[in-house]
Amino acid sequence: MPAKGARVEMIEAPPEEPRELKAQDAVHVELVSRTFRTKRGPIQALAGMSLRAAAHEVVVVVGPSGCGKTTLLELICGLQRPDSGTVRAAPAALMPQRDLLLPWLSAIDNAGLALRARGASREDARRAAGPWLERFGLERFERTRPAELSGGMRQRVSFLRTLLAGKPVLALDEPFASLDAITRQDMQGWLAHVLVAEPRTVILVTHDVEEAVVLGDRVIIMSPRPGRTVSEIDVTLPRGARRRTDPAVVELRERALAALGVQP
Ligand SMILES: Nc1ncnc2c1ncn2[C@@H]1O[C@H](COP(=O)(O)OP(=O)(O)OP(=O)(O)O)[C@@H](O)[C@H]1O
Ligand SMILES: [Mg+2]
Repeated sequence: MPAKGARVEMIEAPPEEPRELKAQDAVHVELVSRTFRTKRGPIQALAGMSLRAAAHEVVVVVGPSGCGKTTLLELICGLQRPDSGTVRAAPAALMPQRDLLLPWLSAIDNAGLALRARGASREDARRAAGPWLERFGLERFERTRPAELSGGMRQRVSFLRTLLAGKPVLALDEPFASLDAITRQDMQGWLAHVLVAEPRTVILVTHDVEEAVVLGDRVIIMSPRPGRTVSEIDVTLPRGARRRTDPAVVELRERALAALGVQP
């Protein structure tokens, strides 16, 4: 049997050691550093990284490839520990960078995987996941395996699996990066509406500055490796009703690109 347990671990925050929060923040990362020891010497992924998210806030993290974004999400989900600094977070579920759907399970069984991992029977997990698949426009694909789903459908199943883990914090690692531009825009609009209907604290990582401004309450710009926060942009426009052509959205996008050092 493939390493089912390992994948379940990616979905579920570990049960050990509750990482309590003192303020009302759902996520509090303070001056965190993380270095990987490799055969070719140490690689410092993060150096003095800080970030906070209040309950139900959507914080989008943008940064160049290799600056430590996935490492940051894994720290928040308790899958790694910092070398120094503090990570406090309410229980968090990770939607990994690759969808990691299990190829031998149908959409509904993939969606309910976190429930099964918590001891639910297959029938109970299906009963819980079924109405969600319907809400996510996947009702005709409940029994379809991942290989026969489109990229956007796979991402919806993967997101649903993360949501059904039942954690207050969702850590989404480049959820739409593998999709074509049209599907990506559709999925961004879809996620914005889901989060209005089902508020969660979200830390979403992306390379896409426009995605950050369309989805986030706040955009965190990271430096190249070793990553840390170099700029924060508040997006005060109402979520779920932002158009990418709005002058305010365009201006925020330009600000974010400038903070990343990208020339117009
Ligand atoms: N388990 C590991 N062992 C050794 N090095 C690692 C490990 N995980 C990450 N790294 C290194 O740490 C750095 C940051 O990696 P990370 O995956 O967090 O970057 P990222 O910002 O998510 O990149 P991308 O945008 O390409 O996904 C990289 O240089 C990577 O090679
Ligand atoms: Mg990554």
